[in-house]
Amino acid sequence: MMDTSTTVQEAFGTFENWKYDENTWFITGLGGSLYMYLLEGSEKALLIDTAYGLCDMKAYCEKLTDKPVIVANTHGHLDHAGGNGFFTEVYMHENAPIDYKTFEGGPCDITKLPHSDFKKRYLKDGDTIDLGDRCIEVIDITSHSNGSLAFLDKDHRLLFCGDELESSQVLMYEIVEAKKNPYDLEMRVRKHKVNMEKLWNRREEFDFCCPGHNGAPIAKEYIQDFIGLSEAILSGTVKVEDKLNHPHIEADPIGAYLCRTRYKKASFFVKKEQLLSMGKRMDMKAVIFDLDGVLVFTDKFHYQAWKKMADGMGIYFDEEINNRLRGVSRMASLEIILERYEGEPLTLQKKEELAEQKNEVYKELLKTMTPEDVSKEVRETLIELKKRGYVIALGSSSKNAKFILQQVDLLDAFDAISDGTNITHSKPDPEVFLKGAEFLGRNPAECLVVEDAEAGIDAGIAGGMKTAAIGDAVNCKKADYVLETFSDLLRILI
Ligand code: BG6
Ligand code: MG
Repeated sequence: MMDTSTTVQEAFGTFENWKYDENTWFITGLGGSLYMYLLEGSEKALLIDTAYGLCDMKAYCEKLTDKPVIVANTHGHLDHAGGNGFFTEVYMHENAPIDYKTFEGGPCDITKLPHSDFKKRYLKDGDTIDLGDRCIEVIDITSHSNGSLAFLDKDHRLLFCGDELESSQVLMYEIVEAKKNPYDLEMRVRKHKVNMEKLWNRREEFDFCCPGHNGAPIAKEYIQDFIGLSEAILSGTVKVEDKLNHPHIEADPIGAYLCRTRYKKASFFVKKEQLLSMGKRMDMKAVIFDLDGVLVFTDKFHYQAWKKMADGMGIYFDEEINNRLRGVSRMASLEIILERYEGEPLTLQKKEELAEQKNEVYKELLKTMTPEDVSKEVRETLIELKKRGYVIALGSSSKNAKFILQQVDLLDAFDAISDGTNITHSKPDPEVFLKGAEFLGRNPAECLVVEDAEAGIDAGIAGGMKTAAIGDAVNCKKADYVLETFSDLLRILI
């Protein structure tokens, strides 16, 4: 059963309640910092949130009302849904549930609550909960946490808004980040703004907001300040306060990673690192793509053509050596192949002949390329980036770049092309990317370079650009961003 030891009680305090009106109770815990609400209708009563599981909220509510008590979560965090196990069924957003079965941590063992296998009933935006003479509308306001719901009680003119809006601070981070799908601050802030605008558009339908923490009711004008806060963050003008001014979080190790952002009365706690990287990301206006290994795969053609040349000269050549040629110019590639050459020294003219020989074979192979050689994912991502306002350039060491783009029908996709024909130094020299930025009319700092070769990542860094690694370049661990797949760019360049 419940852990009722003095220490836990001392830490979490007892629950208290006061009546807001004849049929509405505000229930507070955690020394007044945690808020739940009991709304009584003619048929049923609705409890909003269930706290940590320390207090039997069902028994608690049954002392306040003689109506059957149903329960809904504003979201799935432990301080709001930990007590769900006192009820046989709970309403919530589909993305909100705490995993009771595998849950570890928290002030008590919620897996041992009387109904830890409670039935989940899912709510979505626009649903209503009918309490008899009192009807509660469900509004999806997911941002701070997944599956966040607000409950609009038009009859009593109150908006219950969970942790998405409060007078002290909204926490815009996840303590444990999901590896696959990290908490993306920019996306969350954009979402928060849209949600708050949605609530503000309905301001005539309620007088006050009732959050999950730190004081209620609060003025609905907070919504406007939160819209202003999101705008300030997105425009890079937000005020960051020197101190968190939150003794509990300051004492927690996570406190070192957070900062308090503010606009008027509204405040978000955000991870400093995410705020900084968002700033960096938002400076980006242009993307410069390497060609081979990023947009198309011509490695095999390079290999076959060099192999033919090497065999003709009796030089050992294999795929491992071929890998070293990635991003390297034609003549520099030849020098790498000649490391295995044991004959008489070659004149420059002879070397040029060999490179030309290889290129003739290579060009024949390129003629077999068709638009099918570019994936749908690549094509659609380029289109979407342009739609989002980015300008895009090619930055390839290849002198055949335009021919390849023509073959695969990508020539028109780019705003500028910088390739082997307009440079004298090949990657890791930044020249090809700097030219690309110049052709686009952008500063290097505004460009993101996408590369599959370490030499290309080095070139991007040397040019003062941000870099994103895909394929082999991921292993060098030098890039600012790692792309598991090409369309991951759309998560970076919002
Ligand atoms: C790069 C390739 O894109 O172009 C290199 O990654 C190649 O392997 C270089 O050597 C030069 O290509 P080209 O077409 O000018 O011989
Ligand atoms: Mg490449």
